[in-house]
Amino acid sequence: MYGRTILSKTVGTKSFSILSPLRAKSTPVAEKKTANGYKFEQLSPAQKAYLDRVIRVDQAGELGADYIYRGQIYVLSHKYPHLRPILDHMWKQEVHHRSTFNNLQLKHRTRPSLITPLWKLGATVMGVAPALISPEAAMACTEAVETVIGNHYNEQLRCLANQFNISKTDGSKDEPQEIKKLTDIIKEFRDQELEHLDTAIKNDSHMAVPYKLLTEGIKSVCKAAIWTAERI
Ligand SMILES: [Fe+2]
Ligand SMILES: [Fe+2]
Repeated sequence: MYGRTILSKTVGTKSFSILSPLRAKSTPVAEKKTANGYKFEQLSPAQKAYLDRVIRVDQAGELGADYIYRGQIYVLSHKYPHLRPILDHMWKQEVHHRSTFNNLQLKHRTRPSLITPLWKLGATVMGVAPALISPEAAMACTEAVETVIGNHYNEQLRCLANQFNISKTDGSKDEPQEIKKLTDIIKEFRDQELEHLDTAIKNDSHMAVPYKLLTEGIKSVCKAAIWTAERI
């Protein structure tokens, strides 16, 4: 359904070089009826490409989160049974996030990331390896991942709010219902990711050794993975 234009937004920076193409390529074609009978103009190719990219990267990211928590549970739940309900709660939320983006991917016919097997392998390693060091290291991993994902979702929310105010045939502007729904989903998931971040801190992520190396290393890997999953 969506086009394949590659945009140039860089994750982890505040620069939105995607914004000018979104404005420049708007093609006014009336398509959808709204509740009051007025129609929205069609999304521009750049807007469609951006949505395509949002769904692809978020589906890949939530798949990764599912595998990270599975890895943590596998390593930690027997030796540290008090962590099991905490990890289970976060994992179940990630499974819901993943299935929501799976459904969006099908609905919008967005192709998945071409290197999905690599995301599964990498996320499993990211879940298992820190957990083998210590429970605190696993929590430091969660803290790092959720920090990056929280920022990533906030960037998407900013772009959706700024760039999808579409003209209607009566001359007014509004967000199409689909964009409002996607925005609500991302807001809900962003809030849950930030709860996971708080949970990790409450469970001694800062006590991990080596904390700085772990968290900064994992943040860099996550940013690189996001950049790649948006494009490949
Ligand atoms: Fe998630
Ligand atoms: Fe999360």
